[in-house]
Amino acid sequence: MKTLSKLMAVSALVSASAVGAAELEVTHWWTSGGEAAAVAELAKAFNATEHDWVDGAIAGSGGVARPIIISRIIGGEPMGATQLNHGRQAEEMIEAGLLLDITDVAEANGWADIINPPKLLDACTVDGRIYCAPVNIHSAQWIWLSHEAFAKAGVPVPANWDEFTASADALRAADVVPLAMGQQAWQTELAFGALAVALLDQTTWSAVNIDKDAAVAAGAEYTRVFKAFDDARKLAVGSNVNDWNQATNLVITGQAGGQIHGDWAQGEFQVAGQVAGEDYTCLPGLGFTEVLDTGGDAFYFPVQDDADVEAAQKELAALLVSPEVQVAFNLKKGSLPIRGDIDLSSANDCMQKGLKILAAGNVLPGGNISFTQDTLNQMGDLMTAFWNDHSITVADVQAKYASIIENAD
Ligand code: GAL
Repeated sequence: MKTLSKLMAVSALVSASAVGAAELEVTHWWTSGGEAAAVAELAKAFNATEHDWVDGAIAGSGGVARPIIISRIIGGEPMGATQLNHGRQAEEMIEAGLLLDITDVAEANGWADIINPPKLLDACTVDGRIYCAPVNIHSAQWIWLSHEAFAKAGVPVPANWDEFTASADALRAADVVPLAMGQQAWQTELAFGALAVALLDQTTWSAVNIDKDAAVAAGAEYTRVFKAFDDARKLAVGSNVNDWNQATNLVITGQAGGQIHGDWAQGEFQVAGQVAGEDYTCLPGLGFTEVLDTGGDAFYFPVQDDADVEAAQKELAALLVSPEVQVAFNLKKGSLPIRGDIDLSSANDCMQKGLKILAAGNVLPGGNISFTQDTLNQMGDLMTAFWNDHSITVADVQAKYASIIENAD
């Protein structure tokens, strides 16, 4: 990987000689095995043009990378392109004029007719102008189950969350931690969100997650979700890992029964050579409600004031949405493509399940679309406090959650 100073020296050279080719430093937080394999597909495609991809991977997940990325852009040290989650994370930078308007690319490539579901493009749009290229749909409502772990415990692989909790004693007796969970706040928050989608009907879910109705958040339906979350924290005792992919690795190696996690976990199973349906099982909606959220990733292009760089940025934007890149990238990433007109017949069992749910239109907006990052951080902190401190009761956590919803913008 080239250093930033080298990059700056090279881009100065490129613009001085006006050769048209540019180096773009591209920041992202895709550093696990599966993620790195996926982002390498993007780099390969961009390097096949006259331009160069300078990889700016930032370790530590979105919670670490996002503030670094944003402060560089705001602080006048913009990269050529950056991953963010599509939704509200870039709102303020767009308003400040720091991100490139790529409406011309979107129009020239017919994105309005191609991108599916259309709300992915809406998430890139501010005042009718488009500022990002969505690259995938990631959903969080999955549990990933280790066949090896359940074989050790001598019980069948569960078909839903209730069967999973019922198998916990057998797993413990076989020295298997029932639920793998990393320590970062967003991971516990993700598990809470997945339980909410799995256990609630859509009207109740939407009342809180779209309409921000605090009374419903404080009500009996949500108490059920918090009770399940209480079960989950007990099932995860003994899962002493930090990063999400370390938690996935506990499942891959049969040390844990399952992990509630996003579909990017698929990339890890794939890199480990595991086969969906043989070595592991994935249950969307935790085996209950086959609904997925349509969160995911998009690339933004900080304004650089350099015509060559801008041309390269626009070329990259178009490339990311192209059919070839969509197939190559998403097959490795474990995510679903953002266009419905491409052939994904080689996708594994789990991706096929996701594609079916998407085709049936059983989708919800992702949390990054409904809530600001500030609200999400507050929720993450609350869920982590509850997760780690078993003296906090279900009633306490639910009351605090309802007050976050009440104040959410
Ligand atoms: C999410 C991102 C995914 C995946 C995950 C874990 O924010 O959308 O692509 O990378 O973080 O790193």
